[in-house]
Amino acid sequence: MIGRCSGWRWTMSPGAVAAVLGLALALLWALLEPEWGAVTRAGLVFVVLVLVLVLRWVLQLLFSPLELLRDPDVGYIPEDGRSRAQTARYVRRRRKTGELPPVYPNGWFRLLDSHMLHTGRVRSVSALGEQLAVFRGHDGSVYALDAYCPHLGANVAVGGQVIGNCIECPFHGWRFRGNDGKCVKIPYSNKVPEFAKLRSWPCCEVNQQILVWFHCDGEEPQWAVPEQQEISSGEWVYRGRTEHFISAHIQEIPENAADVAHLAYLHTPSITSGADLRFTNRRTWKFLRHDWKAQWEPEPGPNHHCSQMLIKHTLTVFGRRISLLDVEVLARQVGPGIVFLLFNHRFLGRGVILHCVTPLEPLLQCVTHTMFYQKNVLPLVPKFLLRAESIQFERDVMIWNNKKYISKPLLVKEDCAVQKHRRWFSQFYSENSPRLRFQHDSLDF
Ligand code: FES
Ligand SMILES: [Fe+2]
Repeated sequence: MIGRCSGWRWTMSPGAVAAVLGLALALLWALLEPEWGAVTRAGLVFVVLVLVLVLRWVLQLLFSPLELLRDPDVGYIPEDGRSRAQTARYVRRRRKTGELPPVYPNGWFRLLDSHMLHTGRVRSVSALGEQLAVFRGHDGSVYALDAYCPHLGANVAVGGQVIGNCIECPFHGWRFRGNDGKCVKIPYSNKVPEFAKLRSWPCCEVNQQILVWFHCDGEEPQWAVPEQQEISSGEWVYRGRTEHFISAHIQEIPENAADVAHLAYLHTPSITSGADLRFTNRRTWKFLRHDWKAQWEPEPGPNHHCSQMLIKHTLTVFGRRISLLDVEVLARQVGPGIVFLLFNHRFLGRGVILHCVTPLEPLLQCVTHTMFYQKNVLPLVPKFLLRAESIQFERDVMIWNNKKYISKPLLVKEDCAVQKHRRWFSQFYSENSPRLRFQHDSLDF
């Protein structure tokens, strides 16, 4: 198969693209007048090839979704002749972690985007210190089970087959039911032990994402992930995603919303100054600045698991405000792992970035930003907004990757929302929430 339509985009393998392009160019060569000579014909074919590549690049820039999947060493400054990846490993090993809260809060966490899991397919996914087998049964539903088979420990997500709504282990063929993880068949035995099962995780599929519920005591979901109606109706469509790996405790990331003071410092330099904090305050782009006004508040019951932050952004050039670029963003956090960043602009339209934090290990978070935007707005607009967001976000990443968690921070009156946020976030921990026992557990990526 040379191409595939995933519902969002048409994809072709690089080999297939090269083959089609090669054939087209060979055809062009054959059609050109033979008396023009080989050099002229080769020159013309070359010019056409360059034009096709430039056109493809322009079309991609204008219309295809942004895919920015960052390496885990983003947010580190190479030092003493080491590469960035070496520095990242070294910094993680030597960093002080501080007195940490529990490492896995209770709540919903994103595992995959819906398009990444086709019917009858299984994916191996790391989350919350576990290995999961996430598969889509032939009924279209998504199931998440512990990946290691209780028989002799094979990973059922690696080579396992989806049969109906069950997953079959690749080692000896034991078959496990998706909805409760129970073993329903052992191909060489008449009897299936009652206790033969894989732990099953509650999961849901909302806003074109697959999410899993974690509770340290195995309690059932205590709230639902809100559906963004415009995504379900197709009014807002997929315009791209970014992925970052952050070496920090999960709580540091949402706490950023309540830390209003950092906006006026870390995020004021223009995005043209980039994300490397050594250079963001250089003079070159000083005439261009972002101004922010923000306020964070928890929501009252029954939505006490939610909080809101209204962000007002303005851009100033030589101190003059460009009101056309005023953007209002409502950041609504739902539980410990999901934030809806809702954009509303007079001319640029409306949309949402789904900001999801999933702990992979105690101090390693996978953060994705997935953009859905009004279908009738040129894709370049949401792509630009997502790119701008990722530059600002990577400034935070550099801070998080290198900082220590301070359990008793030295705050001034204006920082009061930080403590308020910590109290709010503590609702996601319970007595048995897992804690990091050794300071240097699992710090290597
Ligand atoms: S290890 Fe899975 S069936 Fe044997
Ligand atoms: Fe920030």
